[in-house]
Amino acid sequence: MQLVLFNGSPRGKTSNTKVLLNQFEKGFKTGGGEVISTNYLLQQKHLSEQVAAFKSAEVVFLAFPLYVFSVPGIVKQFIEAIGEFNGSEKKILFLIQSGFSEACQNDSAKKQMENLAKRWKMENLGVIVKPGAEGVRLMPAIMTKKLFKQLNALGMQLAKNGKLNKEDLKNIATPVELL
Ligand SMILES: Cc1cc2nc3c(=O)[nH]c(=O)nc-3n(C[C@H](O)[C@H](O)[C@H](O)COP(=O)(O)O)c2cc1C
Repeated sequence: MQLVLFNGSPRGKTSNTKVLLNQFEKGFKTGGGEVISTNYLLQQKHLSEQVAAFKSAEVVFLAFPLYVFSVPGIVKQFIEAIGEFNGSEKKILFLIQSGFSEACQNDSAKKQMENLAKRWKMENLGVIVKPGAEGVRLMPAIMTKKLFKQLNALGMQLAKNGKLNKEDLKNIATPVELL
């Protein structure tokens, strides 16, 4: 499988999003997958090329942090630049990662991405939700070991099976709520 990545963090190459994508990519490549390109939505002067890369890809991966319970502005701009699009025969997956500890904070953005995949008529391979992710780029290896292993596994699954394990998606998106 060939994958085109879109990193929607306003922090670009120094983002938590990049750290998480790198780990997914590691597993994906080990499983035999190929990443064709990584596009940083922060680089807005490349917006038209990025839209073209999105539209021509077979499988796209849109990853971004949660900002004020929603997508960052650069992701909204990218979605609007794609506009109405018939992506039947194409596939998409998402990663939403956030600072607060509860995965439920991401529910509305997750729903928005699920609706977007439907609107673009793309097969939705899944939405990876990871709460409590602020600082992963700074944490010592011992604190990120479990998370990186989960992301490696998801990447490997995509390359080998063409899909993500639903139980693993559920496990990474925890805790759902702090009681
Ligand atoms: C302006 C701003 C708004 C944010 N809003 C939220 C939020 O509503 N909920 C949340 O859980 N985290 C929120 N965060 C935290 C980010 O989602 C978190 O730090 C994330 O890991 C940043 O990822 P990045 O380094 O890839 O940009 C916010 C951060 C910033 C800077």
